[in-house]
This record gives sequence, C-alpha cells and structure tokens, in this order.
Amino acid sequence: MEQTLVLLKPCTLQRALVGEIINRFEKKGLRLAGMKMMQLTDSILNEHYAHLSGKPFFQILKDSMMSTPVIACCLEGIDAVRVVRSMTGSTNGRNADPGTIRGDYCMSNQQNIVHASDSLETAAIEIKRFFRPEEIFDYESSNRNYLYALDEH
Ligand code: TYD
Repeated sequence: MEQTLVLLKPCTLQRALVGEIINRFEKKGLRLAGMKMMQLTDSILNEHYAHLSGKPFFQILKDSMMSTPVIACCLEGIDAVRVVRSMTGSTNGRNADPGTIRGDYCMSNQQNIVHASDSLETAAIEIKRFFRPEEIFDYESSNRNYLYALDEH
C-alpha cells in the first residue's frame, strides 16, 4: 500500500472545511494512517517549499501557511499518491476541474485548500518531515475486502 501526505491549509481551517475535505478522502476509500494539528515554522516551510524559494510569492506563501495551524494527514491506499493528486486538482483553483477539491472549494492559486505529495519519493520524504514514526498507525481496516478485490492487495 502506498502512503501520501496531505496538509489541510490554514484557509481550510478558516473556512471550516476540514471535515468536508477529510470526508472526501474517507469516502473515496483512503485509510487515515496519521492525522494531527500542527503549527508550521519557517524552517519546516523552507524545506517543504525549497523548490519555490526563488519565486516572488515564496514569503507570502510561507506567511499564509503559518497564519494558523494546519492539519497534516497521512493517507494510505493502492496508488494513493496518484489518486490523491487527481482528487486535489490543478494548483490554481480557478483552473482546477470541477469535481476536484480545488475545483470545488477555492478560487485561488495559493489559498488552495490542500497540499498533496506529487510523487512516491516526495511522499516518503514529506511523511517523515511532518510525522514521527510512532504517529503513523498500521491497523486493520475491516472493509478492506470490499474496498479492493482479493487479487488487488
Ligand atoms: P506547487 O508545488 O507548484 O503546486 P502544488 O501545490 O499543486 O503541488 O506550489 C506549491 C504551493 O505554492 C501551491 O499549492 C500554492 C503556492 N503557489 C503560489 O502561491 N503561487 C503560484 O504561482 C504557484 C505556482 C504556487
């Protein structure tokens, strides 16, 4: 099973959409392997958004990510990284397809509801960045044989 990292951004807490967004992932059949509220810091964001450090919006992006706590989630499932990215939609909510999270819940390029890992390699790094090993839980899902066929897992 793959694991991927999702951050529910400050805009999601401010707009009281936390339950609704987690509900989408749960309904899809992704298993919550870890979840916690945390206050992000400049140093974790410098790492997390290192690929954007030269962009003009880097500082306001970091400030907005520190404006309230976020909710970090580790979601698990077959092909979880790709499935969660496709549920998330394009970066800019104004361009994101209806039916995706960003397409349905936001109008912004930055206040775009969630972060989701973009590859299996990134997911492994990001899960370690936001969770200690003991905060990731390996428990049996009772509906596993109904979420997947027997030859899928
Ligand atoms: P990026 O990793 O390019 O996109 P994604 O979140 O879809 O993987 O960018 C990270 C975040 O940076 C993005 O979610 C919002 C912010 N951002 C801006 O504020 N302005 C921009 O022009 C871009 C491209 C991103």
